[in-house]
Parts: sequence; structure tokens; C-alpha cells
Amino acid sequence: MATKPKIAVFASGNGSNFQAIADAIQTGKLNAELALVVTDRPEAFVVERARRLGIESFSFVPAQFDSKGLYEEMLKEKLVEYGVEWIVLAGYMRLIGPVLLEAYDNRIVNIHPSLLPAFPGKDAIGQTIASGAEMAGVTVHFVDAGMDTGSIISQKSFPIEGRDRAAVEAEIHKLEHELYPATLQELFAR
Ligand code: GRF
Repeated sequence: MATKPKIAVFASGNGSNFQAIADAIQTGKLNAELALVVTDRPEAFVVERARRLGIESFSFVPAQFDSKGLYEEMLKEKLVEYGVEWIVLAGYMRLIGPVLLEAYDNRIVNIHPSLLPAFPGKDAIGQTIASGAEMAGVTVHFVDAGMDTGSIISQKSFPIEGRDRAAVEAEIHKLEHELYPATLQELFAR
């Protein structure tokens, strides 16, 4: 592994976690190089964030491909072209298929807004609140073929009591923005 691993961030939406990673690199807290942002939604705000930071982004439209295998082959070529060593999922709303899982074995990570293995999948924050759980939190994990099922790398939690949904969401995002860059730094230094 290079001392400064090249990473690609995959995102489908706002990109606040991408921003936190880019900021951590800029301030020297995360020793990595942001080679590329990849999105499956060309209109996503993450593209604008990348543009403002002068980081290359690559958009694709999955519906224009006959299969996940085909668009992942195309993505793999792109990642190889940019020398990407790690794939960092940050709000990327698709399961990763065998093509990228094999090419980036144990080098794909994700952040999820629950204390996995509890509440995988969509609206994890809503699921957490609806369950009556006392604690909420965030998880960084390796990606496998399942939905938020890969082995856990790090977690942070907090008590829900006294917080409405908006406050829980705000706390989740705050923790994500601290935990993701710090976990990547630790992972890359292994
Ligand atoms: C985060 O809550 C992350 O845990 C989940 O999707 C959300 C992405 O937010 N996987 P953002 O696009 O990084 O702001």
C-alpha cells in the first residue's frame, strides 16, 4: 500500500461525508489522496461539492447499462485509470456487485447511520427511532455482497432520550463526519 492511498468516494446525494473526508485530507488529519468522486446520480449535490474542491467527478446512469456487471466493468476501468486503491462509499445507494467486490477485495468501506447489525438498509434512523431503542449511532464497515452486512470496523453511539428526529439526525451526521475520516486514517495506517 502506498503511504498516501488513492481513494474514490462513491456517493448518490448530498455528499456531506465526502466533504468531511476532503476537509480531513486538506487539514492533514487524513493521509490520503482523493482521486475521484463517482456518482450514479449526475444531478447529485456531491458533484457540485467536488467541482468546488477541484476534485474530478465521474457520473454514470445505471439505466443506460444492461446489467450491474457491465457498469461495474466500466467503473473498474475508470478506477484503474485513476490508480484508485480504496473505494469509500458515502451515501451510495446501490449494492456493490461481484465485479468491484473481487477487484477491491477488502478495500471497500461504507458508513451507515445505525449501530449495525441493527437496522440495515433504508431509513436506518427512522427504523432506530421507531424501535424504541435507547441508543442511536453510526457504523463504518467493510462492504460485502449483502446490505450493510460486512464486518464492522468502528462505531459511535449516543443516547436518543430527549431528542426529536431532527436532533437525532443532526447528531448522527456530526458523528459520521468525525468517525469516517478518523477510521479511514486508522485503516490506511494498518
Ligand atoms: C449518511 O447518513 C450515510 O451514513 C448514509 O447515507 C448518508 C449520506 O449522507 N449511508 P451524505 O450524502 O454524506 O450527506
